[in-house]
Amino acid sequence: MREVKIALLGFGNVGKGVWKILNMNSEELIKRSGYHIKIGKILIRDINKARDLDVPKELFTTNFEDIIEDDSIDIIVELMGGIEPAVDYMLQGMKRKKHIVTANKMAIATKGNTLIKTSREEGVMFYFEGSVAGGIPIIHGLNDNLVANKIEEVIGIINGTTNYILTKMTQEKISFEQALAEAQKKGYAEADPTSDVEAFDAVYKLCILASLAFDTIVSVNSIYREGINNVKPIDIEYAREFGYVIKLLGIIKETNGELELRVHPTMVPAEHPLANVNDSFNAIFLKGNAVGDLMFYGRGAGELPTGSAVVGDIVSILRNKEKSSYYPCLKNEGYKKIKDIEEVKCEYYIRITVKDKPGVLGEISSIFGKNNVSILSVIQKGKREELVSLVFITHSTLEGNINKSIGMIKALNDSEKIENIIRIENLGMD
Ligand code: NDP
Ligand code: HSE
Repeated sequence: MREVKIALLGFGNVGKGVWKILNMNSEELIKRSGYHIKIGKILIRDINKARDLDVPKELFTTNFEDIIEDDSIDIIVELMGGIEPAVDYMLQGMKRKKHIVTANKMAIATKGNTLIKTSREEGVMFYFEGSVAGGIPIIHGLNDNLVANKIEEVIGIINGTTNYILTKMTQEKISFEQALAEAQKKGYAEADPTSDVEAFDAVYKLCILASLAFDTIVSVNSIYREGINNVKPIDIEYAREFGYVIKLLGIIKETNGELELRVHPTMVPAEHPLANVNDSFNAIFLKGNAVGDLMFYGRGAGELPTGSAVVGDIVSILRNKEKSSYYPCLKNEGYKKIKDIEEVKCEYYIRITVKDKPGVLGEISSIFGKNNVSILSVIQKGKREELVSLVFITHSTLEGNINKSIGMIKALNDSEKIENIIRIENLGMD
């Protein structure tokens, strides 16, 4: 039996998932890869930390030199997170002819082209299936099975933590803070959960998907981003009244060679399949000009689902080791124009607090009218003489028109407060 030695950089949620899968499915993995996959070293930060798995102590090291200098290690599996030292370790590994697997979306989205270029120059394989949507095989899907298509649209729920939080706030009415704490406990959240909540994590993933699906270099800074921090229980309740569910969506659309790239909370029709993607599940819809509509669905975070993608990459390397013929790549044939968010067309939910005085609704409605924003419906809740909530749903309009209207409404007087604006995607159900 041939043996291959790998090193894990990191033994947190995903590292432990990889360890468990290698043990749980060892016989199948031997049959499927032709190798006995052995963990030779595990890099961690804190050697004294209690580990809840029975791992021989001598495998742990805090010194990367123990791995890079060990010629018996063929594959480095980077599961530490962050940009540095993770990227430096991966580049060093490639230069020492070690194949690399990672689940680090932040590193791929920001340094992916350097990593790909170096892997090609060094003739090593570089795989990163776990970096987008956990256990869903979307990267192999795009790079391999869907390569015959021109992709026209990708819309997805690509962050497990925020989907878990929104699901719990919607279905069980628990607080944002409690739901986040649960997501952290379950191992879904990033080391710094701001990355999930403020949608940086989803932006990294959308950046990787856009590069792969639309043959272009995408900078993370060109992606419009809004997190779920401002989604309040009252917005979830209004969404329900209007027949919607709020999800954090990543959206890529190509029209006339221009890309729309945005991540933001979105109201989706309650009867649409995306509205029923709950907890840590992710789903990605895409439209190809040959395959038509496709939906990928599965666990988007967590130790075993992500470990599944990582171990799959290790096996892909072992299967291709002799021929070294397959290098998944971020396409980098130049930049496509990215649409400014002001030019994006959507329907909008707008919640405003106003003093309930005669004429206020008329004033606000006339501002919308002046800016070509047509109102589909409006709800007013609250008692007279108090502050009341006005909720507008607009017809499809340019975001620029909404922003002009909001500027004018804010200038009306001090008691009008724009509480929230949430985009609505009817996803072909209108
Ligand atoms: P954790 O925070 O749970 O684990 C990180 C591990 O890396 C820890 O073992 C830590 O050591 C080690 N580590 C961190 N920095 C260093 C360093 N400078 N030197 C040595 N060791 C270091 O992270 P996750 O397992 O959750 O995530 C790992 C990667 O996988 C990230 O890139 C993440 O974005 C990605 N990912 C995570 C998913 C998930 O569901 N959690 C899903 C998909 C991708 P120590 O144990 O000593 O603290
Ligand atoms: N923190 C990420 C999420 C992990 O919640 O989706 C999976 O990439």
